[in-house]
Amino acid sequence: MNVLGIETSCDETAAAVVSEGRLVRSSVVSSQVDLHARYGGVVPEIAGRAHVELLVPVVEEAMARAGLERPDAVAATYGPGLVGSLLVGLSAAKGLAMSWDVPFVGVNHLEGHLFAPVIEEPGLEWPLVVLLVSGGHTLLVEAAAPGRYRLLGQTIDDAAGEAFDKVARFLGLGYPGGPAIDRVSKDGDRGAFTFPRAMLDEGYDFSFSGIKTAVVRTVEREPSAATADVAAAFQDAVVDVLLTKSARAVRAVGAKGLCLGGGVAANSLLRRRAPEVVAVPTYLPSLAMCTDNAAMVAAAGSFRLAKDGPSPLSLAADPNLFLEFEPELEP
Ligand code: KG4
Ligand code: ZN
Repeated sequence: MNVLGIETSCDETAAAVVSEGRLVRSSVVSSQVDLHARYGGVVPEIAGRAHVELLVPVVEEAMARAGLERPDAVAATYGPGLVGSLLVGLSAAKGLAMSWDVPFVGVNHLEGHLFAPVIEEPGLEWPLVVLLVSGGHTLLVEAAAPGRYRLLGQTIDDAAGEAFDKVARFLGLGYPGGPAIDRVSKDGDRGAFTFPRAMLDEGYDFSFSGIKTAVVRTVEREPSAATADVAAAFQDAVVDVLLTKSARAVRAVGAKGLCLGGGVAANSLLRRRAPEVVAVPTYLPSLAMCTDNAAMVAAAGSFRLAKDGPSPLSLAADPNLFLEFEPELEP
């Protein structure tokens, strides 16, 4: 069973073909990062227009690389994300499914991220704790099995990636901020400053807006502070909070592993420290699988198709879609 996946929820136009739910036959990602960089963030109007231009060549490339004329199903992200961007991939997927006369299935972008380790780790053991950290989300999830989730905690304000992006912009490091902070931190002294670790000792929720303010105050107070030191101390504090709570969740749930997902899971300090902090195996998706891609959408789509069947062609884009949690797993 070959599933064509399409992902256009934010600023990556992506298409991929996945067979048997986890074998990636092709994965093409066209990043619009250069288009948005000079605005310091994703401009929704520009993103939607760029998806319209890029989607057909990206889909053609994914199909050609997979050596396929017609897939057995088409999956597309229908939320959460920018509505104008979601609509491009979603409408194209429905049209393609109709013209090929194959099933269409809508995919929750967050569930897509949860399938990245399924693709890359054949030996995954459940239950898992998944730390999903992207530009829009910071979630700590218990996954009892694929598709069976319980929310343990989430951010009460900014997402972790958003904090990276805002602090990077303030430090003049450009966009996207996460990779820039990661890069300059390598030359910095993370002990030069101690930034607040909000809610460190309480449960599984996160808060990242205070640390952003603390960085601004510190630089205003010490204008000569080395940017690399500030970046390194900021990154250290964020990673510390993310991993302290992940380790706590792993212990509480009795998880057999910790998975990282989302763009912030590309962070080199987070990746290096995760195996040191938790006692169970840590699954770190490749960088390409951490950030937005369509292989994870095709994998999640294969799963949803087998479990729930095709989605109706009337399925609407839902910019605020949240993960569905299993009632029997709710605390
Ligand atoms: O999952 P993603 O590609 O898009 C969504 O938000 O869905 O995540 C993008 C986020 C951005 O905030 C970016 O700054 C962050 O991931 N990011 C990183 C790194 N690479 C990307 N944050 C920290 N360190 C990195 N190396
Ligand atoms: Zn994402």
